[in-house]
Amino acid sequence: MVSEFMLQQTPVIRVQPKWEQWLKRWPTPKDLAESPVAEAIRHWENLGYPRRAKRLHESSVILTQKFNGEVPQTFEELISLPGVGEYTASAILAFAFGQRSLVLDVNIRRLLARAWLGQSHQAPTISAIERALAKGLLPIGEQQAAIWSAAAMELGAIICTARDPSCSTCPIVNDCNWFSQGKPNSDIPKKIQGRYEGSMRQERGRILKILREHQNSTSRGQLVKQSPDQQKFETALAQLLNEGMIEKTRGGYSLPRS
Ligand code: ADE
Repeated sequence: MVSEFMLQQTPVIRVQPKWEQWLKRWPTPKDLAESPVAEAIRHWENLGYPRRAKRLHESSVILTQKFNGEVPQTFEELISLPGVGEYTASAILAFAFGQRSLVLDVNIRRLLARAWLGQSHQAPTISAIERALAKGLLPIGEQQAAIWSAAAMELGAIICTARDPSCSTCPIVNDCNWFSQGKPNSDIPKKIQGRYEGSMRQERGRILKILREHQNSTSRGQLVKQSPDQQKFETALAQLLNEGMIEKTRGGYSLPRS
């Protein structure tokens, strides 16, 4: 569950060391639940999208109080947890519990788009047709299905990469519809990830970085001083307060204190 939270928006290579440190520090949901949320946000460090740390912490409290300190093994229970969406619930069922579940992450979606649909990349959102195709490909047995999901994800992540696929080493190249058509560029809109430079995300990250580095509160003046854009600063600060990622203190702001 920890690895899937981290992997939601961060590549394996960056997640792995952080995940190992995290589990050393908090081996069980109860351990994390007993730590202040600020510690979770601090330890998330540079993984990005730090709301995931807060949600993982919230989930650990629920696991401790309602689920006997264990990760539940049904889709309905998993998806009821903060920060767990369809993808994360399915991935936990497949990879942690060896169940037959439909895991549709970007890697598997790109693989399906290419090898089966003959397209250069996946559509911006998952369609009913794509879901049906993926479901039809999933082996019937629980174990085989879980292995299929892991293998398809690895193939997508390591060989059938977005920018530079290694078709010469691909084990299914002879069955790939996209390869046999000469790898055409498909006329499908791409999901565009906005630039980080100058984004609200960057400004939020900047504020959080300062607060993470201070045990006590930081004054507004300190926070605004290094901001390149006053308007962005105000919006980012309001967002972080609203989400409970930071708190107003007497002297300024801090990570949540409870
Ligand atoms: N390999 C690449 N991404 C992964 C993920 N999200 N879960 C498990 N294995 C992966």
